[in-house]
Order: sequence, then C-alpha cells, then structure tokens
Amino acid sequence: MITIHDKEFAPFLTSEEISKRIKALAWKINADYAGKRPLVLGILNGSFIFAADLFRELAVEAEISFIKLASYKGTTTTGNVITAIGLEETLTDRHIIIVEDIIDTGKTLSTFLPQLTRQQPASIKIATFLTKPTALKYDVKADYTAFEIEDKFVVGYGLDYDGLGRNLPDLYILK
Ligand code: IMP
Ligand code: MG
Repeated sequence: MITIHDKEFAPFLTSEEISKRIKALAWKINADYAGKRPLVLGILNGSFIFAADLFRELAVEAEISFIKLASYKGTTTTGNVITAIGLEETLTDRHIIIVEDIIDTGKTLSTFLPQLTRQQPASIKIATFLTKPTALKYDVKADYTAFEIEDKFVVGYGLDYDGLGRNLPDLYILK
C-alpha cells in the first residue's frame, strides 16, 4: 500500500505486466505502419512514460513529437476550445498516432480530434495506455489500448494524483 497526499493506493499492475502489454501493442503497430513513417504525437504530461516505452519498441521508421493540450472557454464563442501547444510539424498527409495516458470520459480527445482532422492528415489513430469503458461519455475509440480498467482512479506510470505519483514504475489503484 502507498499513500499519496491524503489517499491510499493499492498495487494494480506491475511494470513487468505493463512492459509485456506494450511490446504486444508495438508488434501490432509495426505491422500496421510498415513503410508509412508515422508521426507519434504524445499528449503531455501523462503520456510521456508510456510514449517513451512504446516508441522504443517501434521497429518501423517513425517520428515523435509532444504536445500539451490547453482547454479554455472562449469569451465570445460557446463551448470549449482546445489548443495544442508545441505542435510544429505539418500534419497534412502524415500518418498520425496520438498517444494518451488514459481515455476517461473522452472529452479531451473528442474536442481535439476534429481540430487535427482539419489539417488533413493521411490517417489518425489513437494509442492509449488505459481506457475506462464505463466512464466514457464522448464518441472516442482507441485503436490500440494497453489495458481496459474499471472506473477507479489510478496513479503511477506517468499518471498523477494532484501532481504526484508520475514517477512510480508500477500502476496503483485508489483503495
Ligand atoms: P477525459 O477528457 O475525460 O478523457 O480525461 C482524460 C484525462 O483525465 C487524462 O489525460 C488524465 O489526465 C485525467 N485522468 C482521468 N482518469 C485518471 C486517473 O484515473 N488517474 C489519473 N489521471 C486521470
Ligand atoms: Mg492527460
């Protein structure tokens, strides 16, 4: 058992289990992207460890870049807008693989994906470390998922609880 801030977390997935699953995902991606030179787009902060581990297992020619999504409410327009900070590559005609730490409600990606599509990439696929199928509220589907988990808060392997826990090699679940 570990304590982060005020909460107790129990061991959930070991780094060995995680590593095994990531190798399996990478084999699929290697097969799907042979000769395509994909651009992997890691969404900061949560995905940086998953993205690094997944990227190292890719055997195809591939590029990687990281972006930060900042959401804000427009003062004159309705609804949320998400801006991608740090996106320098031209996405037009590229094969994009978005890498996320977790798809929870799906709100972030469902808002951001249409903005990416506008740049007319050749293809967009989503690789996520975790999904919480019962928490999903928006129409987002991952193409590569390492683990489907129940709707409970998890921490470690890049995911944080209020800023802490990202450096834990294993994944922990809220008690
Ligand atoms: P969504 O827009 O609801 O899919 O939100 C996804 C984001 O919420 C993730 O990128 C995480 O930053 C955060 N999040 C959701 N569930 C968890 C969790 O269990 N642990 C840590 N962060 C989480
Ligand atoms: Mg995140």
